[in-house]
Amino acid sequence: MKVVSVINHKGGVGKTTLTANVGAGLAARGKRVLMLDLDSQASLTISFFTQSEWASELLPTRTIKHWYDGIGTPDAMRSPAPLITKPRRVLELLSHTGGYLDLIAAHRDLADVDTALAADLRGQPQLYVDLHSRLRDGLAHAALSEYDVVLIDCAPNFGLIAKNAVAASNLLLIPTKPDYLSTSGIDSLGMKIRAFVDEYNEHRNGSGGQISRPPAAVIFTMVQNLDGKPIETQRSVISRIEARGVPTFETTIRDSKSVYGPAPEHGVPVILGGTGRAQTRELRELVSEVSDQLDRTAA
Ligand SMILES: Nc1ncnc2c1ncn2[C@@H]1O[C@H](COP(=O)(O)OP(=O)(O)O)[C@@H](O)[C@H]1O
Ligand SMILES: [Mg+2]
Repeated sequence: MKVVSVINHKGGVGKTTLTANVGAGLAARGKRVLMLDLDSQASLTISFFTQSEWASELLPTRTIKHWYDGIGTPDAMRSPAPLITKPRRVLELLSHTGGYLDLIAAHRDLADVDTALAADLRGQPQLYVDLHSRLRDGLAHAALSEYDVVLIDCAPNFGLIAKNAVAASNLLLIPTKPDYLSTSGIDSLGMKIRAFVDEYNEHRNGSGGQISRPPAAVIFTMVQNLDGKPIETQRSVISRIEARGVPTFETTIRDSKSVYGPAPEHGVPVILGGTGRAQTRELRELVSEVSDQLDRTAA
């Protein structure tokens, strides 16, 4: 099983949209995929379930918050399996592929979990490794061994839960808009990830269980094309980022509000049921690149 986090501390860069489409695209290629929604805004969850399904069927007992809440109670290593949900509309579309796409939903109080974990860490600094490896440990549970890929949609911050995601990951996907400010955003995210991995390993302090920094690659999203290529200003941003040695995916995702806007309401990602052919094609190309990258990434 490979764990992939879609991460960027900036909001509105396409994290959730990419998580849904890459997840569905991998499932369409026959992979068994579990998505994890770590953002209290629950955009990923409500891209597959209606608001009322989320509120009535998932929020009370079946979210990632319930799993975090259960840690430290006597059944500490309890199975995450009862939290897994099956988005019906998407599974129907995938039924002939051999793959499937499941989800563990977000909870609107996830930000409180982040705050509570941070308070625990202040009070008991010796718990550093324990607090940061909870997701890593949880995803190693036998109940999840059926999945080929776990895709994590992170919240737009770099708090303790996002660090949990990094510690659990084999690969990081970093959606980025090709604009001037995003260049420094990528640098600062890279530094934060590096600092976190170093700090984690220092706390491990020779006791084994060190983590390595997951390979990371930028996916350019909301790209404006002209004659099949990004417009000049965006192209120069992309080149500048590549020139700094930042790994990037060759496929870029075009800006297309009319195609991406309505998809969550229908409960089906664009790659499976969208209206735009060009958009579907480039999403498939991206999924193919991600799939190749996953094959090259150590589990
Ligand atoms: N390629 C795209 N072109 C146009 N709009 C997009 C694209 N990808 C996402 N969006 C829209 O931009 C908004 C933010 O996207 P989202 O995936 O929720 O970002 P994030 O998770 O990083 O906050 C949403 O309204 C979404 O529909
Ligand atoms: Mg999001």
